[in-house]
Amino acid sequence: MCGIIGYIGKKNAVSVILEGLKRLEYRGYDSAGIAFFSNKGIEVRRCTGKIRELTSLLESENLSSHTAIGHTRWATHGRPSEENAHPHRSNGVVLVHNGIIENYLELKKKLIAEGYTFTSETDTEVICHLIDKYSKLLTPNSKLKTSLEDAVREALKEVKGTYAIAVIKEDEPAKIVGIRKDSPLVVGLGDGEFFLASDVPAFLNYSRNVIFLDDGEMVVLTDDGVMITGHDGIPVQKDVKSVSWSPSMAEKGGYRHFMLKEIYEQPRAIGDTLRGRGYPESGDVNLDEFGLSIDELKKVEKIFIVACGTSYHAALIGKYMIEELARIPVETDIASEFRYRRPIIKSGDLMIAITQSGETADTLAAQREAKRLGAKILSICNVVGSTSSREADAIFYTHSGPEIGVASTKAFTTQIVGLYLFAVGMGRIREVISEALSKEFLRELLMLPGKVEEALAADESISMIAKDFFKARGFLYLGRGINYPIALEGALKLKEISYIHAEGYPAGEMKHGPIALIDEELPVIVLAPKDNLHEKIISNIQEVKSRGGKVISITNNADSEVCGISNKCIFVPEANPYLTTALMAVPVQLLAYHVGVLRGCDVDQPRNLAKSVTVE
Ligand code: AGP
Repeated sequence: MCGIIGYIGKKNAVSVILEGLKRLEYRGYDSAGIAFFSNKGIEVRRCTGKIRELTSLLESENLSSHTAIGHTRWATHGRPSEENAHPHRSNGVVLVHNGIIENYLELKKKLIAEGYTFTSETDTEVICHLIDKYSKLLTPNSKLKTSLEDAVREALKEVKGTYAIAVIKEDEPAKIVGIRKDSPLVVGLGDGEFFLASDVPAFLNYSRNVIFLDDGEMVVLTDDGVMITGHDGIPVQKDVKSVSWSPSMAEKGGYRHFMLKEIYEQPRAIGDTLRGRGYPESGDVNLDEFGLSIDELKKVEKIFIVACGTSYHAALIGKYMIEELARIPVETDIASEFRYRRPIIKSGDLMIAITQSGETADTLAAQREAKRLGAKILSICNVVGSTSSREADAIFYTHSGPEIGVASTKAFTTQIVGLYLFAVGMGRIREVISEALSKEFLRELLMLPGKVEEALAADESISMIAKDFFKARGFLYLGRGINYPIALEGALKLKEISYIHAEGYPAGEMKHGPIALIDEELPVIVLAPKDNLHEKIISNIQEVKSRGGKVISITNNADSEVCGISNKCIFVPEANPYLTTALMAVPVQLLAYHVGVLRGCDVDQPRNLAKSVTVE
């Protein structure tokens, strides 16, 4: 997820862009850049680091312009560096992009064969060269060069993936073209000045009059105003909305907290993470995305997964998936425990280090120890260029975008997606699962974003449940099998957000001690999907109820058996047992959030916690 912005008007465009990028920094902040028209044509300035680095790079130049575009990056392809920073250029075409180009490698090969030279590792650069290529063609039956907007239309016909772009061209000054597909793009209407951005905060200080573009719609900004058309070039009429948000609320997309925004971003984050990595039509998983060769993967006889906190709960889910779908033995360790237990790990073993930040000291120490002992390291990470990803032999990037809230939410469900893809892919190459089953698994994965959207619909009912229980002295979370890690995750979310003690426990183990805790004061959250352990979890619910306990069950839609014996019920759509974990994660995240808010806690920055624990 990156932030893009464009400005055309009477003010100094360089200052407007820098200020707007600052407001978009929550969307990505590993590198930034700006392109502006000057008497030398289009000039570009880029640098790694936050917007303040770009600002200080420019301040000595005292630049001025009336048309400019800018970008703040959250890397997905190509590490954070000046040459990978946007804007990207191809001859006179200069562009910024937010999204993921699925077929960029194929397009890159074709463009190189046509004589284009690439200067970055990004997927974005292919769009630049394509637009340049089409802008050189003459319009049919005339000697006129193709306009920038027509060249953009033609170029994007070859592109698969998601994009929101802003593009300018040297021989068409005072014009910015923007178009979107599955990535947000909004237009700001000022007094004789016009804005284009990923999100409203970028220009809220100048205008509250906003046009929200829909997929396929193109906008052309000039000094004379704004023209919006469909992808076919036919003008479309759009409503102008007036936005009442404060700048700070706008950065949260109108949500009260980043945590809630990121919970709601999960359908998009999961869609971005699975995109281009699994092919239901063939049943194949793109294991190249994991960076290990098929031969190396086939030789793996044992897997170790290490992580901390929420990422460790993803590791536990990964164990279930990989052992069931690929039949490879998996050991999981809390990273800070791993190297002190003298692990029996050997050359050829694979360690998977799961870390959102890529900077967690305990996880880095564990992966270094495993590497020293001869294992191959696969990092499942959300930050391109982070220490874990740089030191690993192979990387799978989750594309959840920056996770600002300290409590990990969208990173967790995208880690589950990565582990699922890995498990299915390994199951296929080891011929443990059939092509038909793999096709079914990948079809179900494609439906996950929509099912998470459905699970989010329970938010209102969950906030009502939170009102009933937010004064409780503690909570118990129970789950069985692959949902036991979700019980642990639900308890962790509640602890770190509301400061109430909570414990996750295997439901079958409750009678061996924790059942002594049960009384009418202790809410018990039970993860009770319709799976092979359904009958067992029902008897666990009855054990709690018979001792006066209050049971809040999270179950599949219209499971009357579970609902009939529970005090409260939260529904999630049905899915296979592996993907059900991602669906069950949503209500436990929302419950923790609402309880934390009701208790007046700082849910985005809970006390004593840090977003990335870079010390042991
Ligand atoms: C989760 O909500 C916490 N913020 C914390 O447990 C976190 O998951 C843990 O510190 C690991 O962080 P990482 O994924 O960046 O390595």
